[in-house]
Amino acid sequence: MRKAVCPGSFDPITNGHIDIIKRAAELFDEVTVLVVTNPDKKCVFSPEERAELIKKATAEISGVKVDLFSGLLADYVKANGICAIVKGIRSSSDFEYEFQMALANRSLAPGAETVFITADPQNMYVSSSLIRQIATFGGDVSDFVPKSIVEEIEKRLK
Ligand code: PNS
Repeated sequence: MRKAVCPGSFDPITNGHIDIIKRAAELFDEVTVLVVTNPDKKCVFSPEERAELIKKATAEISGVKVDLFSGLLADYVKANGICAIVKGIRSSSDFEYEFQMALANRSLAPGAETVFITADPQNMYVSSSLIRQIATFGGDVSDFVPKSIVEEIEKRLK
């Protein structure tokens, strides 16, 4: 079984993330969407809230699981027999940031490859921080996140 992981902060999950997860699910037998800690970010949603939103948003995609982890991604990858770390790339600045992490993860977990999937052009500008800003000021986020979680995000951030 070819298992992949899509790790991230997902604060909250966006349509851009969903597109990458769907496309990863076409390539691998099982994809775990993993809420992991980014020490450089102070998240608004708790890890448990983020995992619940992801579960709702990915419920219809077959072969997708959701999990939480607070340690090194490479340790999760090794402990769970994962062969690929899937990341979405929207821009050259995403690539700079992801390339460094891919090299570090290659050294820490040599059995796994990082696989980059390019964002769909319509999601190139979509980010979790954009959604947080729009919802915080009472805007409509329904174009940017799955319908099943719009209300929860707007209510939580307003
Ligand atoms: O969505 P993000 O915040 O850009 O994702 C970055 C994330 C969370 C995947 C990265 O910070 C991470 O892998 N954190 C887990 C801790 C870890 O393994 N750090 C070393 C990465 S080489």
